[in-house]
Amino acid sequence: MLNPFKPEKAVIREIIHETADTTTYTFSFSEANLQKGFRYHPGQFNMLTIFGIGEAPISISSNNNMDSGVFQHTVRRVGNVTNALAKMKVGDSVGIRGPYGTGWPLNVLEVKNLLLVAGGIGLAPLRPVIQEVMYRRQDFGQVELLYGARTPGELLYTREFEQWRQAGIIVRLTVDAVPEGVTWDGSVGVVTKLFDEMSSEPFDTLVFTCGPEIMMSFVVRGLVNRGFVPEQIYVSLERRMNCGVKKCGKCQIGPKFVCRDGPVFAYAELLTLPEEVLGGVAG
Ligand SMILES: Cc1cc2nc3c(=O)[nH]c(=O)nc-3n(C[C@H](O)[C@H](O)[C@H](O)COP(=O)(O)OP(=O)(O)OC[C@H]3O[C@@H](n4cnc5c(N)ncnc54)[C@H](O)[C@@H]3O)c2cc1C
Ligand code: FES
Repeated sequence: MLNPFKPEKAVIREIIHETADTTTYTFSFSEANLQKGFRYHPGQFNMLTIFGIGEAPISISSNNNMDSGVFQHTVRRVGNVTNALAKMKVGDSVGIRGPYGTGWPLNVLEVKNLLLVAGGIGLAPLRPVIQEVMYRRQDFGQVELLYGARTPGELLYTREFEQWRQAGIIVRLTVDAVPEGVTWDGSVGVVTKLFDEMSSEPFDTLVFTCGPEIMMSFVVRGLVNRGFVPEQIYVSLERRMNCGVKKCGKCQIGPKFVCRDGPVFAYAELLTLPEEVLGGVAG
């Protein structure tokens, strides 16, 4: 962990345009020793600073095991920080503090199968899970990804899907709509539509889901109706953040702080909170 309050300079090494508004940036810390010691778990995030503009929490979309010489963030342009980042070029610098948060529970040893359910930019914090599966494939059983986006052009990481499939990961795709003139042979409809064709079953399976909160509330409801229990479903929550280290209270939900206790929570844990999160559908 870096000094929790001091952004360290990191340089943009590569820029990959994923969609019209979303880009994957490859970074490395300016200081070689910092980069060497930078270790993180799938599902953790960094606070990314654009000097003179501001700071935003962004999930780490790469996996430490794949290449510890760099790390990646996949960012959608929505406001001040992300629009300023979108104007930057290879060689420009940002500030990074982190890694923060809990990450996905990949070390629950007795569970073998994974069901990943993602919507839109929500695939970014799940990509390191997929990479972890590819890195130590023998530790996992059936791994299935259900991924939905608004249109085919808004799907992230399409160049990697074939590689994921070759690693034995079941990849099922759906889009809300197919614009005229676009060829699409996947499903059309919201991501929960894929539940009808999925291979995953509740036994011996952990579910990780990330996407818009309304999507995740339908996902947990659909899975609970199919026999999954809240203890086996993990969600990654988004809240506005300032400090990222449980000091300012900005991200607080009852007794929990999304920055430190999350962003990944067991759905069962959310059901114990005084405030309703994801509709409390299994309560
Ligand atoms: C743990 C975590 C991980 C994340 N990972 C990613 C990721 O991998 N990739 C990614 O692209 N994003 C990610 N986000 C979301 C990202 O942090 C936000 O979109 C962030 O607001 C972007 O900062 P910005 O300055 O560009 O936008 P902002 O200027 O903060 O604006 C973002 C949007 O929020 C609205 N807004 C502004 N102020 C408020 C307010 N006070 N209350 C409510 N809404 C407001 C704006 O109108 C705009 O639509 C993550 C968030 C969290 C908490
Ligand atoms: S962001 Fe400050 S307490 Fe979580």
